[in-house]
Amino acid sequence: MKMNNACKAIVLSLCLMLLAVPAMAGHGAPQPDKKAILLATFGSTVPEARAPFAALDKEVRAAFPGVEVRWAYTARKVRNTIANEQDMHVDSPAVALARLGDEGFNHVAVQSLHMIPGLEFLWLMHTAERFEGMPKSIKQVEVGKPLMYSAEDMERVAKAIMTAVPADRKAGEAVVFMGHGTSHAANAFYPALQYYLNKLDETAFVGTVEGSPSLDDILGALKKNGVKKAYLLPLMSVAGDHTVNDMASDEPDSWKSEFKANGITPVTVVKGMASVPAVRAIWIDHLKTAFDELD
Ligand code: CO
Repeated sequence: MKMNNACKAIVLSLCLMLLAVPAMAGHGAPQPDKKAILLATFGSTVPEARAPFAALDKEVRAAFPGVEVRWAYTARKVRNTIANEQDMHVDSPAVALARLGDEGFNHVAVQSLHMIPGLEFLWLMHTAERFEGMPKSIKQVEVGKPLMYSAEDMERVAKAIMTAVPADRKAGEAVVFMGHGTSHAANAFYPALQYYLNKLDETAFVGTVEGSPSLDDILGALKKNGVKKAYLLPLMSVAGDHTVNDMASDEPDSWKSEFKANGITPVTVVKGMASVPAVRAIWIDHLKTAFDELD
């Protein structure tokens, strides 16, 4: 069938009108877009250790003006302890997402405040995925990467964590970062970071409490390098239980005591990585990437 131009225009405008009619008024009315951010950290039972979260919260709100910002702790043990002992209630990621969905937030960027893409990050990602497309709730969820993820991150993380080292460190004095470590394959991020750190500093080392490299590996490396004094810092978001007890306490098996026993003078820096502005900036950049993926 041949159509003249006027006819074509009528057909076209009919089509556009059909497209523009909402599916159904009332029950089926489309929800307006409401975006939110969920910051998910392991959490800490040590109140002072949580202080840097306030700085991060402020920076996230400044970077995303007008966007709802919520927090969740991924560690159930931490949530239970602070609820029982400090009367402080923090949601799990699942509860926080359900709450956001109930309140009409339908596009959510979840930012992992973990160090590596280990189990805590994977569980967070799997939880978030289950909320995507939930009826009458969240339509879309994007999860921002943890601190260390890409090769580009690694260079940046190495530089960022070195800014946490006290300026009075002298030549020949070592720096040791104490990470958590994991049985998950992502433990390999710690020796990977060692590689990038050594490009910047030959006497900066990365060890872990529960994975590899171990404290013994670190002591061996320090001795090999003839180190007499070392700065000890947690490679964890907060200076919580592991930092206070495993790193900096006077218990005989703490890293501080083991350094002393091996003739190395320890200088402990009880400061979590979330208190380092250059580190926070990496998490915020990862959040921007996730948030930009929201429709
Ligand atoms: Co632990």
